[in-house]
Amino acid sequence: MPRIEIAPSVLPADFARLGEEVAALEAAGVDRIQWDVMDGQFVPNLTFGPDVIAAARRHTSLPFEAHLMVLTPDVMAAKYVEAGCQRLIVHAEACEHLHRTLGNIASLGATASVALNPATPVSAVAHVLDLVDMVLVMTVNPGFGGQQYIATMEPKIRELRALIASAGLADRVDIEVDGGIGPSTIAAAAAAGANILVAGSALYRDPEGLAHAVSDLRARAEAAFIA
Ligand code: DX5
Repeated sequence: MPRIEIAPSVLPADFARLGEEVAALEAAGVDRIQWDVMDGQFVPNLTFGPDVIAAARRHTSLPFEAHLMVLTPDVMAAKYVEAGCQRLIVHAEACEHLHRTLGNIASLGATASVALNPATPVSAVAHVLDLVDMVLVMTVNPGFGGQQYIATMEPKIRELRALIASAGLADRVDIEVDGGIGPSTIAAAAAAGANILVAGSALYRDPEGLAHAVSDLRARAEAAFIA
């Protein structure tokens, strides 16, 4: 049975105190840290360079994953591994040679994952599931935090869960969702088959604080998850 994991996006965090912010997320009980890397071309926003992530690295022992919302993942991959990211998530839409890109990430010593924008079909990853440890189904259009969850992605998550199972990879390939995940949406995403849940604004707007937000989201996902 896949393990439920809560992965915070640090997009809503205080960028002037990122070291303290990732330490606070670890103390709040998250399982990993997701860095939303945006190049201002693949998506309109511009965020974290590798040096920023490297500066935060010593402030937590948690795994880092870089969600590379960039046009040139092949060019950038090594820099984010050197910065301390154990997992790189590339967008299928940004890779002319996705199979090769995923293999290159593995050769850098990182684990490879692939993200699908809302309009991209599951079939885009049908022939690379053996090269990844996770597929990210975007539940918003990438670029900004605080957007509305796209519920029509739930059938897509179910389709992906079935594809992974039919490939005999259910114990190796996780499904992550990212975008608009909060108390009112996480159960539906988990029930559709997502076991790694990225949340940004929902964590920071919880009036009872980060730890409450993390444990509440985890409980809701665990109660609803269907493999
Ligand atoms: C979109 C970003 C956001 C972020 C989470 O490109 O990837 O989805 O991580 O944002 P929230 O949880 O605030 O929707």
